[in-house]
This record gives sequence, structure tokens and C-alpha cells, in this order.
Amino acid sequence: MIEAFITNQREKKEGVKWRPDYHFTAPYGWLNDPNGLIYYAGWYHLFYQYNPKHCEWASMHWGHAVSKNMVTWEDLPIALTPDEAYDDDAEGGCFSGSAIEKDGILYLFYTATQHENGKVVQTQCMASSEDGVHFKKYADNPVIKTPPEGIAEAFRDPKVFSYHDKWYMVVGASVGNPELDGDGRVLLYESEDFYHWNYKSSILESRNLLGTMFECPDFYLLGDKWILTCSPMKHPHNNKAMYCVGTMDFESGQYQVETYGNMDQGFDYYAPQSFLDRYGNRVTIGWQNGWLWMPWCDGFGPTSTENWRGALSIPRRVTLTESGQLKFYPVEELNVLREKISTLLQVQLKENQKIELPTNRMNSYMLKVMIDEREVGAKEIRFGLMSHEDKEAVITIDIAKKELIFDKNNADVYGRGTVSCAVRFVKHNLELLIAVDKSSIEIYINQGETCMTFNVYPEENQVKCWVQSPGGTGTVKMIEVIDMMNFMEVVKTM
Ligand code: FRU
Repeated sequence: MIEAFITNQREKKEGVKWRPDYHFTAPYGWLNDPNGLIYYAGWYHLFYQYNPKHCEWASMHWGHAVSKNMVTWEDLPIALTPDEAYDDDAEGGCFSGSAIEKDGILYLFYTATQHENGKVVQTQCMASSEDGVHFKKYADNPVIKTPPEGIAEAFRDPKVFSYHDKWYMVVGASVGNPELDGDGRVLLYESEDFYHWNYKSSILESRNLLGTMFECPDFYLLGDKWILTCSPMKHPHNNKAMYCVGTMDFESGQYQVETYGNMDQGFDYYAPQSFLDRYGNRVTIGWQNGWLWMPWCDGFGPTSTENWRGALSIPRRVTLTESGQLKFYPVEELNVLREKISTLLQVQLKENQKIELPTNRMNSYMLKVMIDEREVGAKEIRFGLMSHEDKEAVITIDIAKKELIFDKNNADVYGRGTVSCAVRFVKHNLELLIAVDKSSIEIYINQGETCMTFNVYPEENQVKCWVQSPGGTGTVKMIEVIDMMNFMEVVKTM
């Protein structure tokens, strides 16, 4: 029974201002990519790249948590520890990978990293568990010992799936130097028996257009399309989590891309992985940060003072639109954390007057906003988040230009910048969902047509939230203010 192994390590601590309430963080130490996401034997399992010793990246373990609803998580013992000759490198360890169920057993596929003669060696390995808690590494690891010819040492992040009675795996790779001028690849492997894997083809190639290395690839069927996602290093337009929609011929190993896009246009979203929820919906979770090759990254933020570093995004349901774009939107399960909803209708804004919105929890709420372009009146609508005097993050919607601008230049001292994107008024209406959680701000435009994720580290007094129509009177059709609970408050009542 999984319940017997749950360790309740995440009591809410006083004086902690940045640890999120409804986003997943590790109980202690460093976290990066989500790994091995799966619904298995009645539980959602979440594994993650983890350093349990301190808040810096090193010696990767797989942390482990479970949930009945993808929202309220409870900790289990560490699933993978780097303790074998092939994976115990202090500058490596058990890197990212995936989970899959076969004959009732839970299997993990991960990249083992080691150094040999001064060179990095990355191999694909396997571990299994009968109870979903204790994992045994496969005696004949690695299952893939060397990359195909021409592939550099960067060869990692296996995602395994089955299709038409066969097992498949995609692996991220690079031709050349991934840190400099390499060329990203997503490689496809196949297997008849689950233990022997044959290289089939390269299904995505950068050709100097998409980045030097494709980390954490994912490949899945959505409707009648095959979706390929990956996190490129050094993408020329800073697309950190890219998706392609296309068709796949498994006979020839050819993937045909039809449309492509960016999973999240904010600064802090990387290495997402998807899984099927208990109803068969596709859901994806990303790491709310990114590596130093991202030009705006000023380090990983100050949260090590609170003994944690790294958070995961809200689980987002993936849907395909008729025009072949993907949408990513928070799963409905998140509603169990709603505490109070205040609905404001036809909000009247006087010129330059900031109206404070009634949030009752300190920087832990969501705003659902509807703007009707016919009745708005003003040129712009502006929201201030994590605000105190002139310190705040600001979202501006420019009605005429049909543009949204997120500005965090004045929000904290840890990382600056603005991001803007085009917005569409659908039948004259624009819908926004803004999720604020202690040190995280996510924006979802029109049910996830565009997503943006940011880390912001406000001071204790930066807790206000306001709306304004600069330079004229304005009307906002609806603002719903949803106070969100800390997920541990709900775990305790379950
Ligand atoms: C992506 C990544 C993966 C790797 C892991 C190491 O963020 O670089 O490619 O497996 O993190 O922690």
C-alpha cells in the first residue's frame, strides 16, 4: 500500500514568502525537470530531477510524489539514487526520463551519466517496481549503451510509449557540440521485447534553425495527429518548449511536421513532459525555470534561503485546435483548491484610478478576466500584481494594437524584462486567466492559446493586486478573483 510510505515532509512554515501554495516544489533542496509522469494503479506519480542535499544542481536523484488528483501531492521516498558505476557521477547522476506500465509493473527509463577518460557518457537505463514505491535497477543496464553514429555525447531523456503492439522511445540528442554550434535531433528507437532497442530514425532535425540540442523530447498521439515536443538549447528565437503537430509513418520512421509553435512564451518554462490522466486526457507539466543558456536568466533566484529551489507548473491539459495549434490550460482538478470566489461584473474604471481587487490570500489567487473590446472604452487595461507602491509586475492589454505586455522590470531585483504577444478577441471578447502563486505568475490567454510563465520574487509587503485603465475611463466585463489554498491544507482534510 502506497499510503504506508507517504512521508509528510511539507508542513507549511512561517516566514516563508516565496514557496508556492499550489505549485509543486521539492520538500528540501534542488528540483528541475518533471520525470516519469504516469497514472498508475490509482495514483498519479510525479518524479522529478532532485538534489536532496542542497539547493544547487548536482548528483541527480529522482524525487517522488503521488496524488489522487494531480494537485494535492504527498511525498514518497526517493525513487532513484545515483549509486551504480554507470550513473553515480557527481556532475551527473540519474538524469531525466519517463515511466510506463507493463504487465502491472511500473518501469522507469532514465539517462545514466558518467565520465570516462574525461568525457561525458550518457546511456539509457531502466528500473522497475512492483509496489510503485521501491525501484530496482535492471541488472543488464544500460539498455542503450551508445548513441547512433555521428551523435555527440549529449544523448538523453528517454520517453517510452507503445503503439500498435510495439514499444518506442524518443531520445534527445545533438550532432556536434551541444553547448556551442551543435545541431539538435530527436531520435526514435523501437523494441519488440522492451529490453532490446534498435535505432530507427531521426524524427526532428534542427538544420541550424531550431537549436543545438533537443532536451526532454516527448511524442504522442492527440486526435489523429502526432505531437512532438522538446526543449531546445539555444533556440534562435528563445522557444524553450517547442511543439510540432504532424503525421508519423512508423514503417519508414518519417515524421512530417505540419504546424509548430511555442508551448509557453514566458521566461520560466522548460522541459515539459506529458502523460494521460485517468480519463485519457493529455496533460503536461513543465519546470518553472530554465538553464543559464537562456539569455535572461540571472541565476535561479533567491529561494535557497528558504531551503528549496525549483517549482513545477500547474498541470495543463493539452488540446488541438482546428487550425492545428495546441492549447495548454490548467486542469479542472485545480478547483479543489479554490477557497473563495468574488465576481465583479462591469467593473468601471476612472481615468488613472487603481482599483484594488479583493484578494484574501497573500499572493495566492487566480484572476479570470473577460474584456469586451466593444465596451472597454479605454485604450488600455492594466493589472498590477505583487504590488506595493511602485514595485509590481504589470500586465497591459493594448486594445487597439491587440497586444498583451507582461513587464517585470520593476517587480523584483532578481531578473528583469518584458514579453509581449498578440491577442485575439474572439467574438469581441478576450479571456485571461492569471495565476499568482507566491513567486510565480502564469498567464493563459483565451483558454491557453498562449501561455506565459514567470518567476518573480516579491518582498513581503508586495501583496496588492489592482486594475486600472490609464488615460481614460474604462469598463472590464468581468473579473473573478479566486483565492487559492495551499495544497497541504486540502491534503490534511482528505
Ligand atoms: C533538462 C535537463 C535534461 C537532463 C536534466 C539533468 O533540463 O538538462 O536534459 O536530463 O536536465 O538534470
